[in-house]
Amino acid sequence: MKKLALFLMFLPLCSQASDLTLMPWPSQIDRQAGFLSLNHSPVFKVSGGDNRVGYAVAHFVEQLNSRTGGIPKGDGPIITIHCDGNGQKIQKLGEDESYQLNVEPEQAELRAANPLGILRGIETLLQLVYAGEQGWVIPTVKIEDHPRFPWRGLMIDVSRHFMPVEVLKRNIDGMAAVKLNILHLHLSDDEGFRVESRRAPRLQKLASDGLFYTQQQVRDLVAYARMRGIRIVPEFDVPGHSVSWLVAYPKLSSAGAPEHLVRGMSDSERLTLDPTLPATYQLLDKVFAEMAGLFPDQYFHIGGDEVNGKYWDQNERIQSWMRKHQIKDNHALQAYFNRRLQAILAKHGKRMEGWDEILAPELPTDTLVQSWRGPETLVSAARMGFQTLLSAGWYLDLMFPASKHYVVEPFSGESESLSPEQKTRIVGGEAAQWAEYVTPEILDNRLWPRLGAIAERLWSPQSVTDVESMYRRLEILNRNLEWLGLRQQTNSQHMLERIAGDAPLEALQVLTAHVEP
Ligand code: ACM
Repeated sequence: MKKLALFLMFLPLCSQASDLTLMPWPSQIDRQAGFLSLNHSPVFKVSGGDNRVGYAVAHFVEQLNSRTGGIPKGDGPIITIHCDGNGQKIQKLGEDESYQLNVEPEQAELRAANPLGILRGIETLLQLVYAGEQGWVIPTVKIEDHPRFPWRGLMIDVSRHFMPVEVLKRNIDGMAAVKLNILHLHLSDDEGFRVESRRAPRLQKLASDGLFYTQQQVRDLVAYARMRGIRIVPEFDVPGHSVSWLVAYPKLSSAGAPEHLVRGMSDSERLTLDPTLPATYQLLDKVFAEMAGLFPDQYFHIGGDEVNGKYWDQNERIQSWMRKHQIKDNHALQAYFNRRLQAILAKHGKRMEGWDEILAPELPTDTLVQSWRGPETLVSAARMGFQTLLSAGWYLDLMFPASKHYVVEPFSGESESLSPEQKTRIVGGEAAQWAEYVTPEILDNRLWPRLGAIAERLWSPQSVTDVESMYRRLEILNRNLEWLGLRQQTNSQHMLERIAGDAPLEALQVLTAHVEP
């Protein structure tokens, strides 16, 4: 009896806002006393917006059924959804994602100016659902919510380990659940080129090991992401990290033909493109034109990181070309290369994005700089007039705890001294998942639930910093993600069972609980 009383004391009564398990935390929330009962399935009254509003409602119903095991049909509460407008045909950076949610004891209402707001609000509504003393309920609340940053992304490296479409799709669902809005795909690297090119088919034929997305799969994935309010930004990493290009087109190498794709960390030859050859730009123009049509997003990422200058230093023809063109060093040579790429991309209607090594005053300031080597480059980029976003501190592949990523803040230290105008150039951030050691089976586990903590940093007000509260809510997110189809827990269990074989699993579980990050 005593035990039962204790148990009841700790039932999640959610009587105040801080008891709720929302993630990311909304910008304004007012918890009222009471609950909307879901003893019968809700009836939706929907008006305005485009097909994403219909998707949002269907998604709510499907997830409610998944989590609750099904709610009896009948005279359930009315949930009114109203969207004022249709939003952009191609989702744009900075489109309105705000929403208002009002849950009362007899009904609920979700309103937004744009379908993106409805998508974000429906996820909040889903997160509010829980099993109370009287069955499934939604606590009565008034929420006004909008994102702090317009660019809230995740980069997945699909070159080192190819990630099948269904793996990306379930992770897009997870991203939508925590209101992330950009999936950045790292599509080419030394280990493989992962998209079908019809204009340069040698790329996937010779440099993908047969593992690549067909153009139809890309279109399908882009449409899938759009329906969930997520943009897909493609990255083709050049002029370094480009062995896959050179396996297909060895004449463009700065130092001879690569023998094969890079297969592991011990492979030391990581050749670079030759930025002095006209043929290099002819190929990039041809492939980027095709990819620009396939990926409708306004931004196009050209990588630009970790270019090994030794191949340029050792090539006498490149050295004499540099002298002739008065290019003083490798950074200037890469800046020359990037300027030409920027012109190619602008011709195809794109804004160029690159890792922070591309930072150079010669580049047009509509270039977006992704800071990864440290927050200093974020500040330099903003000072120099570039749009910029933060990834330093958000490398999930490094296996740091969620708390370490959670405290990373774009506006801290040096960046606080930026002018208001310079500050607006910091558009957000991206978590990164490099995949040297990440297979499709383990990807979900390497992303979730920690990605929820980064998503909160990018969506919620800067004042939301309570680590204990974050962990409490992350725990619930972790559970709900599995209902959504993510496999971060299931796959870990299966992998442990595989290792244990016929031996008892428990010892292995104890061991890994203590030695795994
Ligand atoms: C990077 O991590 N090389 C961008």
